[in-house]
Amino acid sequence: MTAEIATVSEPILRQPPVMPGLPLLGSAIPFMTASGLPIDFMNEAAARYGGLVHFKVGKQSFYLVSEPDLAQEILVKRVNDFHKNQVDAAKPKLLGRFLGKGILTADHEEWRPQRKLIQPLMHTKHITGYADTMANFGLKLVDLWGESAERDIHADMMQVTMWIIAETMFGMDVTQTPTLAAAAHDAQTIAVADLKSPLPDFLTHGRDRQAVEINKVLTDLVHHFMEERRTHGNEGRSDLLSLLMETRDEDGNPVSDDYVRNNILTLFFAGHETTANTLTWTFRYLDQNPDVVAKLQHEVDSVLGGRLPTLDDLPNLPYTLMVIKETMRIEPTVAAFPRFIGEDTSVGDYQLEGNSVIFISPYVLHHDPRWWSDPNVFDPEHFSAENEPNIPKYAYLPFGGGPRVCIGNHFSMMEAQILLAVIISRYNLRLASDKPVVPLRLITSSPKGGLPMRVTHRSA
Ligand code: HEM
Repeated sequence: MTAEIATVSEPILRQPPVMPGLPLLGSAIPFMTASGLPIDFMNEAAARYGGLVHFKVGKQSFYLVSEPDLAQEILVKRVNDFHKNQVDAAKPKLLGRFLGKGILTADHEEWRPQRKLIQPLMHTKHITGYADTMANFGLKLVDLWGESAERDIHADMMQVTMWIIAETMFGMDVTQTPTLAAAAHDAQTIAVADLKSPLPDFLTHGRDRQAVEINKVLTDLVHHFMEERRTHGNEGRSDLLSLLMETRDEDGNPVSDDYVRNNILTLFFAGHETTANTLTWTFRYLDQNPDVVAKLQHEVDSVLGGRLPTLDDLPNLPYTLMVIKETMRIEPTVAAFPRFIGEDTSVGDYQLEGNSVIFISPYVLHHDPRWWSDPNVFDPEHFSAENEPNIPKYAYLPFGGGPRVCIGNHFSMMEAQILLAVIISRYNLRLASDKPVVPLRLITSSPKGGLPMRVTHRSA
């Protein structure tokens, strides 16, 4: 008998197409001139080259993935090969400057125990109890509106989602919202600058100084919460703040104040601004689509008849949910998120350079005409019972995917559905100005300068 020798052939790797740019500078100009992330430029690049595109900004390599299978490989199958932080960075950068190694920013081993601790708090059985809180805060907001008023809807959505996250996660009122919102905005601006214009450490003093100031505001705020809890005790609470403050490490010692601080801030940032922006975009698109508003109001009126929505009503408000899902498709609040590459590696059959950044862009995936009919048109029917099952996996990624998928996805969907129902059943909202609404796509995307709208009570 002759022995057969099995040979496993290595896949032949190819170089991804490089987006043409200027000599030496590469794509530096579109990267630097975009006021946030260069999403429109990325979208164009993906339409031209598909699959995986390579951008050079000076010597730094960036890649953009626009193939669902490749996104799945990075987020699910080879999650340990792609990092949340710049590998071997001497000092923290991006959101890590502000959130340290909390659950959103920590890499693999440091991340796992934090996810294990926080995940149960987001379990469906836990969050269903929050439905009434969400509806009541929605009502508290619209009670400020009176019969008719001009409001910055973005500021209002930030306010109501802040009330909700503070109450549900931390069991307390937050009065410092404007300071926190400004600090969050400035933090994102620095994080995006770190991402798209990486500088050697000796040139980042300006950003470092600003980050120290922002961190002071953030740390003072969290310490205020922690002090209050230490003074008054947990009073039998099982919210996130109590859980974190009671966490013990493997040796039974309390975790550091920094650990508590980083996760509290992460949940504050990740947990309210994202939903606030989603709702803000919803109202912006509704303004352009009166037919959708009519259908939405018909649904909420017939199901709720003017009362506040409860958890049990949500399955009976499917069109409301379709409107939210469509908003998260057309203007996903996290338009792109990065993974960092240490050593040379590959994805699919593409070669990737070490020390580079690879973007997965929900925005780009959500505008791909291969998966979406009329991708630039706001149409909740993309998510009808008939159409939704045909969306390929990983072609719709508003919450990311794999083990690092958003921990708050159920919380925020429930929150958005409830708040939209509360507001739209009581008020008509119209843009208050003809000025174009321009997206500012930082870590999360919001309308630049807010969203002034005229709100009018439906009985007026
Ligand atoms: C519309 C609302 C939301 C959107 C669009 C959104 C989007 C995302 C995305 C895209 C990621 C993955 C980032 C990555 O892989 O790099 C993520 C992670 C995360 N989100 Fe959300 N999010 C939303 C709401 C929330 C809420 C309400 C909370 C908390 C209450 C939350 C907490 C988190 C946390 C802690 C992570 C990190 C999870 C981990 O790495 O284990 N998010 N989110």
